[in-house]
Amino acid sequence: MAIRLGDIAPDFTADTTEGTISFHDYLGDSWGILFSHPKDFTPVCTTELGAFSAAKPEFDKRNTKLLGLSVDSVESHEGWKGDIAETQGTALNFPLIADEDRKVAELYDMIHPNELETLTVRSVFIVGPDKKVKLTLTYPASTGRNVDEVLRVLDSLQLTAGFSVSTPVNWTDGDDVIIAPAISDEDATTKFPKGFTTLKPYLRLTPQPNK
Ligand code: BEZ
Repeated sequence: MAIRLGDIAPDFTADTTEGTISFHDYLGDSWGILFSHPKDFTPVCTTELGAFSAAKPEFDKRNTKLLGLSVDSVESHEGWKGDIAETQGTALNFPLIADEDRKVAELYDMIHPNELETLTVRSVFIVGPDKKVKLTLTYPASTGRNVDEVLRVLDSLQLTAGFSVSTPVNWTDGDDVIIAPAISDEDATTKFPKGFTTLKPYLRLTPQPNK
């Protein structure tokens, strides 16, 4: 069955470019992003792994560990790493699972046979420190992901985990946020001391509370 938001992210042990990893142990108390790449030595994946590696300091700032997956061997991954560094200007700096037997791909339903018969699509699973799945994204092989969007949703997930707010359309870190409708105006006054603007009783905006 498909993995749903709020499910415990299935645990697994897998060989990676940084040795054998048990997923939950690897995450520890951090947030995590597990994301699949259809195959080694493919063009879009090469650009993605370079871009995620370049952005690793941003993920570190957000206490978030990256874990990639591709259905080839560790030896193949090691050869591909050279190409990633050479063409993208950044060396791979997080572990890449060698999922030759598709064990993890199947556990996470990353193979969508009507899109690609035996390779994974571009799945993204964001997992919280409680090991629950907070967000899933699925892209076809032909469309590379957007690192800024992954960071943006991570900012929203981390913010809304700590405050009774949600983030509006096209929100980015630092923009005003929406006060949860369940919070009364009276409670909102104490919870959000920077004040709030009421556009409708159900649509109240307040400055981002953790800034
Ligand atoms: C790519 O990364 O470019 C790619 C991988 C598998 C199928 C199609 C494209």
